[in-house]
Amino acid sequence: MPLELAQAVAATRRAELLSQLEVVLRNQPSKLTLEIGCGHGHYLAAYAATHPDEFCLGIDIIRDRLERAEKKTRRAKLPNVAFLLTEARMLVENLPKNHVLEHIFVLFPDPWPKRRHNKHRLIRPDFLDLLATKSAPGARLYFRTDHGPYFEEAAGFFQASSRWNLVNEPWPFEQPTVFQNRALDYQSSVVALTDQA
Ligand SMILES: C[S@@+](CC[C@H](N)C(=O)[O-])C[C@H]1O[C@@H](n2cnc3c(N)ncnc32)[C@H](O)[C@@H]1O
Repeated sequence: MPLELAQAVAATRRAELLSQLEVVLRNQPSKLTLEIGCGHGHYLAAYAATHPDEFCLGIDIIRDRLERAEKKTRRAKLPNVAFLLTEARMLVENLPKNHVLEHIFVLFPDPWPKRRHNKHRLIRPDFLDLLATKSAPGARLYFRTDHGPYFEEAAGFFQASSRWNLVNEPWPFEQPTVFQNRALDYQSSVVALTDQA
């Protein structure tokens, strides 16, 4: 795609996202719970039902998965959850200034197992730095994967980060996701945002 066209497409997507966020976040608390790559929304719908004081936003880049998630929450009449078709970096970069992330879930993200594709993984130092700029002091990032090398690599990034620290805390809420049900085994990390920038 020529550069100018790509820039125009990105600008249109950004404008659409900003207007969706304005609607979805109107009158919602400033601190948000975010699930990145929420798939069919099983986890977030169950979480929202048991955490009525939190506003929960689920994002994914696959439309039909989100449509199922939306159906589920409409049926359950959950007022504190919304799903948006958008990419993680795009969402975080464009989060309105009056909102911050307090709980962030990344559950069974795409593992990009081939070595030359590792750079496409979501949990990377640059993304952790970006998340830190949009998160509340003391925010928690909850990461779970069934891919051992991804888990190890992410642990290294958490340890090396000046903003995020691995903490020894229990997983906050159990509800198997679609990919968790398929996994033979998995590992979890809880990571806390330090107070200092
Ligand atoms: C392996 S699936 C896991 C889905 C769900 N979390 C589960 O455990 O069943 C990974 C999901 O992340 C979504 N995804 C991948 N990259 C993403 C990105 N950059 N931003 C938002 N969602 C993304 C994919 O579309 C997919 O639905």
